[in-house]
Amino acid sequence: MFNKTTLFLALVLFALTSCTSKQEAEQAAKNSPSPSEAATPQPEVHGSEVKTVELTNPLNKDWVATGKTIYESKCLACHKLTDEKVVGPGWAGVTKKRKPEWVLNMITNVEMMLEKDEEAQKLLEQCLVRMPNQNVTQEDARKILEFMRANDGEK
Ligand code: HEC
Repeated sequence: MFNKTTLFLALVLFALTSCTSKQEAEQAAKNSPSPSEAATPQPEVHGSEVKTVELTNPLNKDWVATGKTIYESKCLACHKLTDEKVVGPGWAGVTKKRKPEWVLNMITNVEMMLEKDEEAQKLLEQCLVRMPNQNVTQEDARKILEFMRANDGEK
């Protein structure tokens, strides 16, 4: 009989399976592109490793401002600008401690970093939470890096 309990169980099951893995869902979506997506491929937001980054000197003020806005909407929940850890490590000193390429890969290729990079794996051991992919483009990631450099006192 299709009673309320069955419906409830179905909903619970749906809720559970829908949260278990966003990655799986994304993967599935990738594997079966809709015809419109196939016709107009979306720009690659992650997946290609960043090998070189050119640093500007002095800082690009526009990028710092945009980077700050992105930080506030996508990163602030887990990262403070001090050295205090929340969910992820605080950002104070991050640009002194890490190479710019490393930082960009952490932002745009976090899955790869957690799989291959020892430093990233150490952070995961400390934080016990995998940083989720924030779907930040490489361009935006570069602006966030500029904001991090400003946060570390560069002019
Ligand atoms: C849901 C929480 C969460 C969000 C949101 C998040 N991060 Fe993270 N981040 C982490 C965790 C946790 C780590 C440590 C590595 C790990 O455990 O996966 C981390 C590590 C990092 C690191 C390395 C820090 C270091 O000390 O070397 C950088 C850089 C970074 N995140 C950038 C970002 C940026 C940029 C954003 C926003 C676009 C962002 N993160 C959003 C959780 C988050």
